[in-house]
Amino acid sequence: MTSQDLKAPNCEALEPAARAVLTESAYNYYAGGAEDETTLRANRAAFSRFYLRPRVLVDVGEVDTSVEVLGERLSMPILLAPTAFQRLAHPEGEKASARAARAAGTLMVASTLSTTTVQDTAAAAPGPLWFQLYVYRQREITREMVQRAEAAGCTALCLTVTMPVQGNRERDNRTGFRLPPELEMANFSGLRQAGFPEGAPGSGLEAFIAREFDPTLTWSAVEWLRSITRLPIVLKGIVTPEDAALAVEHGADAVIVSNHGGRQLDCAEPTLLALPRVADAVGERIPVLMDGGIRRGTDVVKALALGARAVLVGRPALWGLAVGGQAGVEQVLEMLRGELRRTLALLGRPSIRALDAGAITEIQGLVLPPR
Ligand code: FNR
Ligand code: LAC
Repeated sequence: MTSQDLKAPNCEALEPAARAVLTESAYNYYAGGAEDETTLRANRAAFSRFYLRPRVLVDVGEVDTSVEVLGERLSMPILLAPTAFQRLAHPEGEKASARAARAAGTLMVASTLSTTTVQDTAAAAPGPLWFQLYVYRQREITREMVQRAEAAGCTALCLTVTMPVQGNRERDNRTGFRLPPELEMANFSGLRQAGFPEGAPGSGLEAFIAREFDPTLTWSAVEWLRSITRLPIVLKGIVTPEDAALAVEHGADAVIVSNHGGRQLDCAEPTLLALPRVADAVGERIPVLMDGGIRRGTDVVKALALGARAVLVGRPALWGLAVGGQAGVEQVLEMLRGELRRTLALLGRPSIRALDAGAITEIQGLVLPPR
């Protein structure tokens, strides 16, 4: 990491530095969304509808950012979202991210489509680690991955439900997104060909997903998963109260309000707007997490005030990883932590517990001039 990059004052400022060290195809894979990238942009824009309501003359000499998620005490309500192919960003890839999460006292969700096995990722950073799953046409592959994740000591499974088919990612079609020959989808080793199908036009990942992912999946898959594991099950990709109610009914231990970072259904509702309705439907029964567009401590506070127990960050951690490996991801987490602490102090809410619906207000029709 150069001293220039270390000076990045915030998460967004890291993106150009990351772009400079990534191949064009890797950068576009990480940065991109589906079709017109409406949802990708709306996820960010939604935060500007909400404003904070500071209380003053509150003792904020001590600010406590810690939270509990599924029985795990975390130093802050910010987790690393599962993102595929991290060794495209840095040779240490998933291991570097897991170590950074550990160093920051939080946890990472390891993607099924990692370029490091879940066993090696867990060994690199002992501590809480969640494993993200897809369900494959061949159920045995999923079952075997669950067993490997359990044996590696993972503390929860995160079933992502936003991908019956891949979103239409025009950037990846244009670049012909592929993994370089030295990288593979390590969790498939010994189970299935760990690379993309040969010779497919456009995105190799899309061809892989079309070949392997089960598009017939229904709620019975959650029950099937329950029957093969005792780990908590987190459903990632719930954005309506209807599905939130079904998630509770089918025994989910937590849900993540997520539209997959705008990479799947374009024009899906921004997650910050979906969050309060999902939180309302779930009530106190299970924790609700959210992701999509978190780039600032104020974003974290807005999501928590609207009902999230914790949030996850995707792209910013990839920018940090590309620029500085473990240190870069740590920098992202520490920037967010610093902003979160300061926001809580300025808001007169010295702990996460003190955040309530009164901390936030929605303003219609206030258009800001560009910065
Ligand atoms: C993702 N995401 C994702 N989700 C998942 O469940 N499994 C995966 O393998 C991946 N892979 C992936 C790769 C890349 C490059 C990105 C950007 C995203 C989605 C991710 O977990 C998360 O939902 C979003 O990234 C959150 O939005 P932000 O923080 O990137 O705006
Ligand atoms: C993605 C997949 C792999 O969003 O989840 O690229």
